[in-house]
Amino acid sequence: MKTKNILITGGFGLLGSNLYNFLNKKKYNVFILDKKRNFLKKNYLNIKKDRVFLGDYLNKDLIKKIILNKKIDIIFHTGAVTQVLEALKNPGYTYDNNINGTLNFLNIINNINKKIIFIYSSSDKAYGEVGKKSYTEDTCLNSIFPYDVSKSCADLICQSYAKTYNLKIGILRCANLYGPGDLNRNRLINGFIISVIKKKIFKIRSSGKLVRDYLYIDDAVNAYYLTMKSLTKGKQNLRIYNVGSKYNMNVFKMINKISKIINKNDIKIKILNSSKKEILSQKLNYNKICKELKWKQKTNLENGLRKTLSWYKSNINFFKDY
Ligand SMILES: NC(=O)c1ccc[n+]([C@@H]2O[C@H](COP(=O)([O-])OP(=O)(O)OC[C@H]3O[C@@H](n4cnc5c(N)ncnc54)[C@H](O)[C@@H]3O)[C@@H](O)[C@H]2O)c1
Repeated sequence: MKTKNILITGGFGLLGSNLYNFLNKKKYNVFILDKKRNFLKKNYLNIKKDRVFLGDYLNKDLIKKIILNKKIDIIFHTGAVTQVLEALKNPGYTYDNNINGTLNFLNIINNINKKIIFIYSSSDKAYGEVGKKSYTEDTCLNSIFPYDVSKSCADLICQSYAKTYNLKIGILRCANLYGPGDLNRNRLINGFIISVIKKKIFKIRSSGKLVRDYLYIDDAVNAYYLTMKSLTKGKQNLRIYNVGSKYNMNVFKMINKISKIINKNDIKIKILNSSKKEILSQKLNYNKICKELKWKQKTNLENGLRKTLSWYKSNINFFKDY
């Protein structure tokens, strides 16, 4: 059977880079599109330079050219503005990048080859606040804040293209991801680890009481892989899955867990309580992906945190300006 040609957008990000390494090891023909220009100089993520397109997916001509020239069979659209604070500062760009960027791919696929599989990185944030209940895939997408609404909109647009134009689409709504290769400094787990290694005060932007599910990156990558497989083989052209976690906790509890692993109890923390525009509590119900795709959460929290810590210790030079 012909080797599949795969394009990963946002391939220098946490999810994209880990997905690239996983699919590359499985001998798929994988290409990356990302706009982060300085990344390749400090390439510690095992990404081959001849596999990279440096560019912006808001450029329709560029993505059409890549899809046609490389005969792309599958697209993982992981690229996005992903930082809640950045989205609050620049809502217009966030909506443009996250919604129109997704739409560009859907229109091109619809016009040139409907057999191309499109897998969209939605998010648990797409649901918005649902109180103490856990979200199932049927829960209404009811978000408020810019990052969250950008995810809900693109998620609904993907569903619309699958239902109206019969495109083959996977939508994954993952919990908070963590693991090696995350270059964003404002996320809880890696931000805290970097602060500890650099002996800096760790600033908590919230009250410390926000509750989230935490999932190790390898488990998320596996969910993407299983979804790709199911769309390749199965007849169903739209698959939507929550990818949750048994580890659901608030910021303080997570910090305690990491502190125990690092074996330090003198870590300095400052609670800024400056971020009021965020969902208070999230919990995904992920029975559907376990049942339909036999997905399992394989990495326990302690092992995942240890692997993450060890990666940041080895790569701390990358975070010189932190
Ligand atoms: N990390 C999480 O906790 C999490 C949880 C649920 C869903 N998601 C979603 O999963 C996806 C991947 O998340 P991540 O944590 O890997 O993100 P990330 O911030 O680590 O990486 C995103 C990448 O997208 C690239 N990008 C952004 N706009 C682009 C554009 N216009 N053209 C080309 N490249 C562009 C960036 O340069 C960056 O390398 C995102 O869509 C995110 O919304 C992430």
